[in-house]
Amino acid sequence: MTLVTPSVVEPVPAPAPDLRAETSGDSAPIEALLDQAFGPGRFAKASERVREIAPLRRDLSFCAFEAGRLVGVVRQSEIAVGGRRMIFLGPLAVDTQARRLGTGAALVQAACAAAAQAGFGEVLLVGDPPYFERLGFSAQATGQIIMPGPVDPRRLLLRRLDGAAPEDAVVFQGAVTAP
Ligand SMILES: CC(C)(COP(=O)(O)OP(=O)(O)OC[C@H]1O[C@@H](n2cnc3c(N)ncnc32)[C@H](O)[C@@H]1OP(=O)(O)O)[C@@H](O)C(=O)NCCC(=O)NCCS
Repeated sequence: MTLVTPSVVEPVPAPAPDLRAETSGDSAPIEALLDQAFGPGRFAKASERVREIAPLRRDLSFCAFEAGRLVGVVRQSEIAVGGRRMIFLGPLAVDTQARRLGTGAALVQAACAAAAQAGFGEVLLVGDPPYFERLGFSAQATGQIIMPGPVDPRRLLLRRLDGAAPEDAVVFQGAVTAP
């Protein structure tokens, strides 16, 4: 009998990255990752106008590490919409070498779970609907929210943390301000 050695080595699945809340010591690698992910247009984004007025909630922001190296980040800030306190999510970025492994989704889910745990009912963001709709966000209830700068209304997305549909019951309306 002849033994046939397989010529193709099965890929070893990458280990799931470790997630933990951001600390002040993470700032430098986070800046480098955001530069890599967004490039020079990073500070022209509509979300930046929100981040200029909203305090960062480092305790509700998360970093992903692979073998001790930062490979992903999601940050969250506290805002008010027409006086109602909620969370603004972003930026979200995953290292180009570590994408399509579920890290981005895991970061968003961790961020939303932490926001819910902290007593917030909604998370707002500006992002691509095809990505964020899969994670429970929708533009259905954001039509009356006024951002501090121009934004494509189709990209202004909200997720309710109580499991209710975004368009149900509460009308989210008014200007996005500091809390
Ligand atoms: C968006 C981003 C965070 C996703 O990270 P990730 O770890 O690769 O995400 P996941 O593994 O959870 O999901 C990957 C899937 O999302 C898809 N995807 C990624 N970006 C997308 C986008 N902008 N629109 C639609 N789908 C997108 C991928 O094609 C992949 O699809 P597949 O599952 O069918 O293969 C990452 O691509 C990134 O850092 N992009 C640059 C910065 C950015 O655009 N951030 C989001 C706006 S704040």
